[in-house]
Amino acid sequence: MGHVLYIEEVLLKILFKEEFILLNKIRKSMNILDIIAKKRDGKKLSKEEIEYFVRGYTSGEVADYQAAALIMAVYIKGMTDEELFNLTFSMANSGDVLDLSEFGEAVVDKHSTGGVGDKVSIIVLPIVASCGVPVAKMSGRGLGFTGGTVDKLEAIPGFNTNVDIEKFKEYVHKIGISMIGQTMNLAPADKKIYVLRDTINCVDNIPLIASSIMSKKIASGANKIVLEVTYGKGAFMKNIEDAKLLANKMEKLGGYANLEVKSIFTPMDEPIGYAVGNTLEIIEAINFLKGKDMPSDLKGIVLEIGSQMIKLAGLGENLDENKEKMLKCIENGLAFEKFKEMVGNQQGDTKYLDNIDEFEKAKYILEVKSKKVGVINDINAEDIGKVACYLGAGRIKKEDIIDMSVGVVLNKKVHDFVQEEDVLAFVYANNEEKANRAVHELEKIFIIE
Ligand code: URA
Repeated sequence: MGHVLYIEEVLLKILFKEEFILLNKIRKSMNILDIIAKKRDGKKLSKEEIEYFVRGYTSGEVADYQAAALIMAVYIKGMTDEELFNLTFSMANSGDVLDLSEFGEAVVDKHSTGGVGDKVSIIVLPIVASCGVPVAKMSGRGLGFTGGTVDKLEAIPGFNTNVDIEKFKEYVHKIGISMIGQTMNLAPADKKIYVLRDTINCVDNIPLIASSIMSKKIASGANKIVLEVTYGKGAFMKNIEDAKLLANKMEKLGGYANLEVKSIFTPMDEPIGYAVGNTLEIIEAINFLKGKDMPSDLKGIVLEIGSQMIKLAGLGENLDENKEKMLKCIENGLAFEKFKEMVGNQQGDTKYLDNIDEFEKAKYILEVKSKKVGVINDINAEDIGKVACYLGAGRIKKEDIIDMSVGVVLNKKVHDFVQEEDVLAFVYANNEEKANRAVHELEKIFIIE
């Protein structure tokens, strides 16, 4: 008997060795230049070629400029479903894959495809956590003309988004919520590709967004996900058809990984809520969580996403009742207390939450005034996002440092009636020339008819 086992073991070793040698041969015969040329010429990449690129770029063997060329080729030529599957799973497996099953059978997460003024995660997650849904959330930084949840959270002095896996889990056990950045070794390939895409203007692309989001979701351990798929002028998908296509790809990828994915479509022609810019959005989120000020578009999205998260967590089948539960948690202060607990737990200074006047203000706060009487027809969210970026609220180059206090706060929204001289928006800037230029740009962005 022992003899047979020994022979089996030797056979297995030989088999694995052969496979190993074969794989190595394939890898050695591969070359990033050939892979770039293949995609540039519109040909389909094999699983091995995609893995070669993902592994090589993550380890540093493939240079930034080579990865940039390949990403641009994908942006222009697209990917088949099989290529997208291989890219997503290679990226998901490029680092650790978290196991969150210790938090129960249903671990729910949410992710947005991005938008201007999108502070939804910062509001909805403390609310659902206060309703009993465990929240273990890994978020991203700003991308393109949109802001990122991690940058916004870091506008709270001291708040630490750089947390290791054990601490992250400990926090969720202790208080039921933790929100961190992509700082652990989770989908490190996405982390590099994400930053690169931002600097070569290759963000608004279905395979690149789907692989980026779903690789992170597969690696970060939740098994039920609510996806906020944005569309319109302030989103990467400019129309509902493309948003549905993107959602369909992400749902399929989730299905392959045994994740339950529910997509919610959010129109985004004008910014969500009023504030655009890191500190400014945190202040809006704090006021919302305190129940002081809930802009109606923002409130609608928060309740829609939160009620679905509660349902997926198995804590309430009826969406309307879930929305009521969420509103109660805001009213009785539990949602704000949960947010404060999370901020304190991650070394953030909670005095800023108790008194928003403590936040450092921009040096110049200028008014943008209406030049005519009429109804506001359009406030292009992408253009507002670009003005906020120009003021320093986002990155143009990957090493740029964000200016937390700058941005734009709308005073009027689409469909509002305005008189001549009414204030349309406020510009928050730390540079006088930029402040004046931003005012000038905003005067053109508000379309009044
Ligand atoms: N959010 C992500 O995580 N990735 C994208 O590509 C876009 C939005």
